Amino acid sequence: MVWEEVLAKFKELFGDEGEIGVYFAPGRVNMIGEHTDYNGGHVFPCALTIGTYGVARKREDKKLRFYSMNFENLGVLESSVEGLKPEKEADWTNYPKGVMWAFGEKGMKVEQGMDLVLFGNIPNGSGLSSSASVEVLTGFILKDMFGFDVTNQDLALIGQYSENKFNGVNCGIMDQFAIAMGKCGHAIFLDTATLKYEYAPIKLENAKIVISCSNKKRGLGDSKYNERRSECETALAQLKEAVNISALGDLTEEQFEQYKGAIKDEVCRRRAKHAVYENQRTIKAVEALKNNDVALFGELMNASHVSLRDDYEVTGIELDTLVEEAWKIEGVIGSRMTGAGFGGCTVSIVKDEAVDTFIEKVGAAYQDKIGYAADFYVVEIGDGPVKIK
Ligand code: GLA
Repeated sequence: MVWEEVLAKFKELFGDEGEIGVYFAPGRVNMIGEHTDYNGGHVFPCALTIGTYGVARKREDKKLRFYSMNFENLGVLESSVEGLKPEKEADWTNYPKGVMWAFGEKGMKVEQGMDLVLFGNIPNGSGLSSSASVEVLTGFILKDMFGFDVTNQDLALIGQYSENKFNGVNCGIMDQFAIAMGKCGHAIFLDTATLKYEYAPIKLENAKIVISCSNKKRGLGDSKYNERRSECETALAQLKEAVNISALGDLTEEQFEQYKGAIKDEVCRRRAKHAVYENQRTIKAVEALKNNDVALFGELMNASHVSLRDDYEVTGIELDTLVEEAWKIEGVIGSRMTGAGFGGCTVSIVKDEAVDTFIEKVGAAYQDKIGYAADFYVVEIGDGPVKIK
């Protein structure tokens, strides 16, 4: 068991006295609805059975001692619950510290320190939300340890707040929500404008969800992410002069075509087009799934990728290669990039009998064209955060 190894590491580093809790929060994959969550649109993500394990113990003083088994070279990183602020040297600990800070901002000041060991089996920087997983996990631990009165939905909002305000990435609510609210065997159809949501069972008879990881690190991704967001804001501000809306997600495709002339810049017009069409595609995709029309769901996934490639321009040669090679394989129902883009992963629905061929062929073509290997994971949909022990 993974958690037992994490617990053993904790005891080795910090001793075994006192009350030690063992926790888990998942990673997530988004099936469809990309770059819609900060545009008041719909998303359709699910939590995974891979994620982040955390072992934690409350301290009597103000000290924080954090250790990650994914970054062992960094050793134990120490700080304090007083004067929490983002620091470059703090590296990954800026995520849990950001969440502690965000609790304080919401009137729940963390007064005591803690010892924490983490281990994530989500590939780092893969676009499966390892950072949101750490954020929700930290919130879940704080709630358990200090008795804060918060729901899982609150944990999602606090996680997003910390990412926006402490770590400077202007992300939407999708990742933290998918992780905090995850349900085994289901994806979450979330309206990001209202936070109304519905669980939809993912019944893929004779097919699997395969994640292909490009191993291209996101690098400049965060700044490009913020850039896309402001391009959408510009488009929205100009559209508002022509039509009474509060977000791009309010528009149907027809309305967009009618009013798009109000957007002056051609690039911003394409960004907005993606946001509007992708939102409508997500609604249609969930409808298709309800009608057991997995083939149509797959076609909408493919169309989503094309839009992210041509109009939103967040794919890049690595993700395009993975998806375009996947499309060539018989038995692939749908394939698209998932997450922010600029590297990271793709998600594909692949018939059982085609999974081995998929991994072999897409893997070989990718290695050939890109010069390094991709990794493949056949994943399962899991639950939200849990206390294991
Ligand atoms: C990242 C962000 C999310 C969402 C996706 C794109 O994962 O954290 O909020 O915007 O990109 O859909």
